[in-house]
Amino acid sequence: MYVCICNGVTERQIREAAANGCRTVAELTMRTGCGATCGTCLDTAIAVLDSVHGEREPLFPIVSLSHAA
Ligand code: FES
Repeated sequence: MYVCICNGVTERQIREAAANGCRTVAELTMRTGCGATCGTCLDTAIAVLDSVHGEREPLFPIVSLSHAA
């Protein structure tokens, strides 16, 4: 099944990327192009990553200010 129509990325490709260490949507986009155009596929892409890893990764990196100077 195609998850990302814009970039031709399938569920299988996302599962393979996850199995090869891809843990975040940002990594997935860098590796496969999934989500790089319109972004409407991101919820489904996250769900596929979650199903492989069993946890939810944040869509955007969380920056802590507690160590700011
Ligand atoms: S469907 Fe994935 S970027 Fe458009």
